[in-house]
Amino acid sequence: MDNKISKIGVFTSGGDAPGMNAAIRAVVRACTYYKKSCVGIMRGYEGMIEGDIMKLDARSVGNIIQRGGTILKSARSKEFRTAEGRAKAYDHIKKQGIDALIAIGGDGTFTGLNKFYQEYNIPSICIPGTIDNDLAGTDYTIGYDTATNTAVEAIDRIRDTALSHNRLFFIEVMGRHSGYIAMNSGIAGGAAAIICPEESMSFDELYALLGEGVKTNKKSNLIVVAEGSKIGGAHALAQQVAERTDYFDIKVTVLGHLQRGGTPTYFDRVLASQMGVGAVEGLFNNEFDTMVGVRNRKIVYNKFDDVVGKHHDIDDESFRIAKILSI
Ligand code: F6P
Repeated sequence: MDNKISKIGVFTSGGDAPGMNAAIRAVVRACTYYKKSCVGIMRGYEGMIEGDIMKLDARSVGNIIQRGGTILKSARSKEFRTAEGRAKAYDHIKKQGIDALIAIGGDGTFTGLNKFYQEYNIPSICIPGTIDNDLAGTDYTIGYDTATNTAVEAIDRIRDTALSHNRLFFIEVMGRHSGYIAMNSGIAGGAAAIICPEESMSFDELYALLGEGVKTNKKSNLIVVAEGSKIGGAHALAQQVAERTDYFDIKVTVLGHLQRGGTPTYFDRVLASQMGVGAVEGLFNNEFDTMVGVRNRKIVYNKFDDVVGKHHDIDDESFRIAKILSI
């Protein structure tokens, strides 16, 4: 297991996710273990374009496994989408003697890395880090478990006050294209209905469900709505209900970016550690232009075409259970 790779650059890109630091730590420590050097590229592709790069060693990643956010900071770079931007980035990579890249991020990050690989042939690998769990090729992405637990905790708190006042709450969770956080925080939080971008009831069905609850003396209702809901976000749905009836005392809570922060769960730390080591070893085994993933707790390597543009489906069983339990 070896090739000519001796200096690896690691960076975080796109929306940050709890557990990214644990992944950075794993990459750096695996490099040290295999006697390779490692540098951190700040602010994702932005730092690559500007040459904002620093040396990392085993000690520089101490005391970060438990921290949310990313010590390397993150950005969504517009300039890297241009050929000029990527040419500037390549200059810095060459100047620094970096011969392989590990990106921690989502779909957009992998797309950028793939383009860079095709143009400059730099051995590279992506680690899926996004709270959305929206990447095909892996059972879980780093940050999803923590974000979902954060949402569940928030839903539990809202339930207390909802019940005290017999209120109907619309709670919006993150997920522009993916209902993973909504589905699983909704099931775990005992939601009366869960609205996902992938598949959801119509507004009329939702309204009818609320009516059924009234008949069976349901005192409060929590509706969990993913940000990317096709029938409207939490505010829009609340307004539509209010336009039809004044029976309900309606409130809205949008959880927003609080789901992106906080200390990562044990699950995300272990996942990030596995994937970080898996990414470094993948580079030594010529698994280039791939995304490392975990399937049934085993490390796998997925080619770009098997990941990007593919939807990570929520299983039908989750929809079925959510429906049964919404009575
Ligand atoms: O991709 C992660 C995510 O948190 C999505 O759930 C959300 O739609 C988006 O990022 C928000 O992005 P930003 O922080 O750039 O507003």
